[in-house]
Amino acid sequence: MIIKKLSLYNFKNHSEKKFEFSPQINCFVGNNGVGKTNILDALHYLSVGKSFLGNTDLNNIMHDEDFFTIDAEIMNEESEDIIKISQPKEAKKIIKKNDKSYDRLADHIGYLPSVMISPYDSNLISDSGESRRKFLDAMISQTDSEYLFDLIQYQKVVQQRNALLKIFSPKTEVWEKDSMEIYDDPFTKLRNQ
Ligand SMILES: Nc1ncnc2c1ncn2[C@@H]1O[C@H](COP(=O)(O)OP(=O)(O)OP(=O)(O)O)[C@@H](O)[C@H]1O
Ligand SMILES: [Mg+2]
Repeated sequence: MIIKKLSLYNFKNHSEKKFEFSPQINCFVGNNGVGKTNILDALHYLSVGKSFLGNTDLNNIMHDEDFFTIDAEIMNEESEDIIKISQPKEAKKIIKKNDKSYDRLADHIGYLPSVMISPYDSNLISDSGESRRKFLDAMISQTDSEYLFDLIQYQKVVQQRNALLKIFSPKTEVWEKDSMEIYDDPFTKLRNQ
């Protein structure tokens, strides 16, 4: 699988740029601040639908503009696909493959697998286990869609259970055993998978 062409429109400091890539190794060379890392970030968007720098989608729209688009031509073994990502200021991000929108971002994950290596990776050693788990979850999710599906379900259950635990605190003096137990089954099942 090869990314043949990339077009950026209002993506960070790239108002309108087109790139054609070699099927082998590609290097970006340029002065500081010209937008080399931003190109890598656009490629990361194509892979997993978000920035690897932790920016929110809206922060990646060029200052004072209303939307960004990232378009790419991807060559597969048998076919060529067009991936289009657009982020308007006032609406939801849209990811399309060959003009067809995905219902869920999760359906796109794994189509264009990527590994991003950067100086920030030292955080994987110095930070808490949470960042290591996040990194491994993101890597495994790109090659195992069932894992990604279970992970999304697990995160939902944990989020709902934690919201309930906040209500059931000694401070509020509320405790409903039955409501809590609803989460026991899915929580244990998903955690052990
Ligand atoms: N939303 C945005 N709108 C406009 N410009 C932006 C936006 N987000 C980031 N930038 C600009 O992008 C530039 C940085 O680009 P980038 O980090 O890709 O440069 P670089 O070529 O990798 O630089 P270096 O060689 O220092 O690593 C900065 O000038 C920053 O102001
Ligand atoms: Mg850089």
